[in-house]
Amino acid sequence: MKAENTGTLVCVGTGLNLAGQISVLSKSYIEHADLVFSLVPDGFAQHWLETLNSDVRSLQPYYAQDGEVKNRRDTYKQMVAAILEQVRLGKKVVCALYGHPGVFACVSHFAIAQAKEEGFNAHMEPGISAEACLWADVGIDPGGSGHQSFEASQFMFYKHTPDPTTHLLLWQIGIAGDHTLTEFHTSSDRLQVLVEQLHEWYPLEHEVILYEAPNLPTQAPRIERVSLAQLPFSQLSSITTLLIPPAKQLEFNHQVLAKLGITADDLG
Ligand SMILES: C[S@@+](CC[C@H](N)C(=O)[O-])C[C@H]1O[C@@H](n2cnc3c(N)ncnc32)[C@H](O)[C@@H]1O
Repeated sequence: MKAENTGTLVCVGTGLNLAGQISVLSKSYIEHADLVFSLVPDGFAQHWLETLNSDVRSLQPYYAQDGEVKNRRDTYKQMVAAILEQVRLGKKVVCALYGHPGVFACVSHFAIAQAKEEGFNAHMEPGISAEACLWADVGIDPGGSGHQSFEASQFMFYKHTPDPTTHLLLWQIGIAGDHTLTEFHTSSDRLQVLVEQLHEWYPLEHEVILYEAPNLPTQAPRIERVSLAQLPFSQLSSITTLLIPPAKQLEFNHQVLAKLGITADDLG
């Protein structure tokens, strides 16, 4: 093996809440890395990472700075390039991303794929995602009726069909409807379009939940219940996830039950 091929890449998740939601294994990878790239919610999390490793480099500066207009695709390409550059130098590189590093997060997937293509060892360690926090904080077992997850803009741009008997999560609701990948806020007009789209399956008075997991142990989660109609006038941020609870009861599939030789009564 060439010296440069000794470089490795591990993408780890730091969870949402400061210092307490990372796995033992992921923490150990950070402690033993030659350098750590980071993308975490705030300065507290960044500082905590710096107590674990003396070379932590934030990926935050790759985002548009001070009024700059920058497509996030370019941001992600630059982040991947920065990570790969260090792997190619033969370093043990860790990329520490908040939440789960591979859930609604493309940089880790791109970087791992590129590293592997170039013959380096690369893998991902799972983390506690916003969704994992949501089920815990709101007190829902998604197995009760099932659930669906979509990125809010993708949900709007493509013909997705929600199942109103399940829980529906819309990620990145705070930038719903932006196709430019340059904006960090949506507008009430765009949210109104989403409300009209959802109204095909949900009544306007249906209660939806704006969820924000705490990033610090001293904070409480935001669990704000509003009607679907109120969504365009609600306060949304880059960390808001929209939960739309079921609007309809599960329906028995009598055809399949008959094939199994059972009836709805057998299911209790
Ligand atoms: C680019 S994705 C990153 C998700 C992250 N990889 C994870 O595992 O949670 C950003 C979206 O995740 C959700 N998110 C991030 N932080 C959150 C928080 N503190 N509470 C609720 N949702 C959050 C929001 O939907 C946000 O728009």
